[in-house]
Amino acid sequence: MTNWQKSDWRNKPRVQMPDYTDAAALKAVEGRLAGYPPLVFAGEARKLKSELAAVSRGEAFLLQGGDCAESFAEFSADSIRDTFKVMLQMAMVLTYGAKVPVVKVGRMAGQMAKPRSAPTETVDGIELPSYRGDIINGFEFTEGSRIPDPERMLQAYLQAAATLNLLRAFSTGGFANVHEVHKWTLGFTDANEVAKYSDMASRISDTLDFMEAAGLTTETNHELQTVDFYTSHEALLLEYEEALCRLDSTSGNWLAGSGHMIWIGDRTRQPDGAHVEFCRGVQNPIGLKCGPSMTSGHLKALMASLNPKNEAGRLTLIARFGAGAVGEHLPRLIKAVEEEGANVVWTCDAMHGNTIKSTTGYKTRPFESVLREVKEFFAVHNAEGTIPGGVHFEMTGKDVTECTGGVRAVTDEDLSDRYHTACDPRLNASQSLELAFLVAEELSARRNKMQQAKAG
Ligand code: PEP
Ligand code: CO
Repeated sequence: MTNWQKSDWRNKPRVQMPDYTDAAALKAVEGRLAGYPPLVFAGEARKLKSELAAVSRGEAFLLQGGDCAESFAEFSADSIRDTFKVMLQMAMVLTYGAKVPVVKVGRMAGQMAKPRSAPTETVDGIELPSYRGDIINGFEFTEGSRIPDPERMLQAYLQAAATLNLLRAFSTGGFANVHEVHKWTLGFTDANEVAKYSDMASRISDTLDFMEAAGLTTETNHELQTVDFYTSHEALLLEYEEALCRLDSTSGNWLAGSGHMIWIGDRTRQPDGAHVEFCRGVQNPIGLKCGPSMTSGHLKALMASLNPKNEAGRLTLIARFGAGAVGEHLPRLIKAVEEEGANVVWTCDAMHGNTIKSTTGYKTRPFESVLREVKEFFAVHNAEGTIPGGVHFEMTGKDVTECTGGVRAVTDEDLSDRYHTACDPRLNASQSLELAFLVAEELSARRNKMQQAKAG
């Protein structure tokens, strides 16, 4: 990009970013990070972009998911493995429903900075700065822990690097073998309460048996035992993003070296703001959260700024309106996209518009609302003749009790049992997989309808 500099965002209005008090300490950290290797490479970001281009044409489906906020405390091989595992299971079920490849993108290896609805938080009459994610300050409700500490960026970088390292090993080291992935899913559908999904699971078994019989074995087909798995996070903490930004010598373009895909949050998408300024200059696939306040004018301005060449796969619009509100907001944004002839991926974040306070006081999200928003998203796209390209969830492979509902029902009273999130409530492993089955049914119904229309 001509004349764009990775520090240009510093001249733009910024919101949701910490005011570091120790300028010298901040500068030292930025300097160290700038000398460290990038976490991802340009060729990988380009490959993801080409896969997202396929999603924008309806030739693939996007599954994006992971923690609301990765924390230093929950960082472990087991949590990475469990989230990776459930995402592979979901992807397999979705592939079966959609009959197209599923592009897998984790909210992982860098999802550590959070926008907040208020700058401070009051507990028992004490007011302290809000927690903004482990890369910025501490969750503990003490004055010291809530002071933004630049050193945390180094810890976050190390955690992201180690996470990515393990994900790369899992992706290619045999763990992602289709038969194994399906075996885990059968373990889930064997249970009585989820028997309603066993039909689809046994059809997947039949398909795998057929493939094996036809000679498509994991020994001869590398694709059956490896996966491409990408990372993503909200590019919120721009000092960190700038420090990891690198010039790609092959193309002469800038790359956000912090993750494969980065996104702009619903609170930081001001067309003339710092976050848009940073993201417009890097070549990575960019996500843009679209909440109820997004107007068609804003969206058109943002598309022009973030994807001036109308490159397919560059821009993913992440709709997050809330169940019951999709019909009110999505059509005007689809119209704006169609008027511009813009190439975009449409995906549905069915989490952030559905957060409520439970009767027991916990922040939660009802499974029913999450599912309903996805269904509304599909219905609007079906009516408009546009492509519902993917889904975006906050989820974990752990057996937490943070969202209510699902066949293995979590009640308001259960929430206190295993409520571990550092930020928003996540779907647990069983709820995530159940959603995948339900979304797969939507995808399969849509495909049947399209085939009938073609035949008739
Ligand atoms: C998030 O994805 O965690 C988030 C904060 O989303 P949004 O910007 O859509 O509110
Ligand atoms: Co969140």
